Amino acid sequence: MPHVVILGTQWGDEGKGKIVDALAAEARFRAVVRYQGGNNAGHTVVVGGQTYTFHLLPSGMLYPDRTCVLGNGVVIDPQVLSSELAALEARVGTEHARLFISDKAHLIMPWHILRDCIAGGAIGTTCRGIGPAYSDYIERRGIRWADALDQEAFANRVAEEAAWNQRLVEALLDHHRVPSERRADLDPDHALSADRIIASYRTWVQQITGNRLVESGDASALLDHLQGRGEDILFEGAQGTLLDIAHGTYPYVTSSHPTLGGVYVGTGFRPRHLQVVGVAKAYTTRVGGGPFPTELADELGLHLREAGHEYGATTGRPRRCGWLDLPMLKYACRVSGLDSLALTKLDVLTGIPRLCLAVAYQTGQAMTDTFAVHSDVLQRARVVYEELDGWSEDISAASTFADLPRAAQAYVQRIESFVGRPLSMISIGPQRDQMIVCGPSG
Ligand code: IMP
Repeated sequence: MPHVVILGTQWGDEGKGKIVDALAAEARFRAVVRYQGGNNAGHTVVVGGQTYTFHLLPSGMLYPDRTCVLGNGVVIDPQVLSSELAALEARVGTEHARLFISDKAHLIMPWHILRDCIAGGAIGTTCRGIGPAYSDYIERRGIRWADALDQEAFANRVAEEAAWNQRLVEALLDHHRVPSERRADLDPDHALSADRIIASYRTWVQQITGNRLVESGDASALLDHLQGRGEDILFEGAQGTLLDIAHGTYPYVTSSHPTLGGVYVGTGFRPRHLQVVGVAKAYTTRVGGGPFPTELADELGLHLREAGHEYGATTGRPRRCGWLDLPMLKYACRVSGLDSLALTKLDVLTGIPRLCLAVAYQTGQAMTDTFAVHSDVLQRARVVYEELDGWSEDISAASTFADLPRAAQAYVQRIESFVGRPLSMISIGPQRDQMIVCGPSG
């Protein structure tokens, strides 16, 4: 059986957590692996009426006999990891998966969060320090999980970096003309005190490594070993294709690679026999700045936000909502070579009399169904829509494709025919069992 990658085809928040949770239930998957991003993610899993939101932990953590992995491509905030583990144990005890942390994963440090809060405004970042942590990694001055395990080396690295970041943060505060009240709130002198950082990071790292279900080491070797034993691995992408630093709507992107390429770089492992599943919400949402051609800045957009509970799982920010963009899905399909799609939140469209699907873009006289990922082109282009009938029947209890009203079937089939990939799953509500499994051939 193939390994499986679950990744987002839009601007994140597609409902990947639920799809990962559904697949992780299959006994063949021994490991669930995050390969990029950090606690900017918010993956929600609903089990038996209980809602679990994972930011940094992989969504397979609820399965006690699995190993969840944070690959080298993930950026780790130890405070968040320690409290997420403690919160999980407060609810399920030790009945959760093992956690394996790549010793090559980079740490999010307080200066990353400060720099993000000062400079991330134009992009509308989550202020979790993600961009600056990846930036230091590329600049070859990052601090890795392995460094945090060596107390002396860690203290030396923190002292060096804290001093450098004091100056950098001062310069950023001046450059961005941050008012004095806000400077007082950010309190860089306190936040960047090396002694304080060393002590608090030591505590969090000890809390994490002291957990008998947590291990650190070479995640690439672990995955290779599992593959060698014939075990299957589930890779969990965070964010989405259009937020990819290389392939997204740059500069309105995150700083990692949610697309398929991220799996290889973010784990150091070549999965053989890989199936790539792209998760698409039945409409489109976006948080933060940047172009969004199918955005509905009207009553219907507000309706989608309320009906779909479209508020950020990480920051609580209201999400911008709009029609489904088929050229965008086709683009995601090309960039990551998707084998199939999983459609989520189809139930949210119930009751909307006419539905629109973006099928092309027009710039001047030129018409194309290729998604023009450049932000300036997207901002200028006119979207061409196809209109379909909506449905009013409650679909939240459907268990097969045939249970769906004809109009909902037509909506789904139009997506498949445009993108040229089968739909393998259709989610029709937040609960684990509210899912139509169509099989790999649709
Ligand atoms: P950052 O990842 O915090 O640097 O934020 C960069 C952009 O990506 C911002 O527009 C964020 O709103 C967006 N973003 C980051 N993570 C997620 C996510 O998990 N879902 C949706 N948007 C995200």
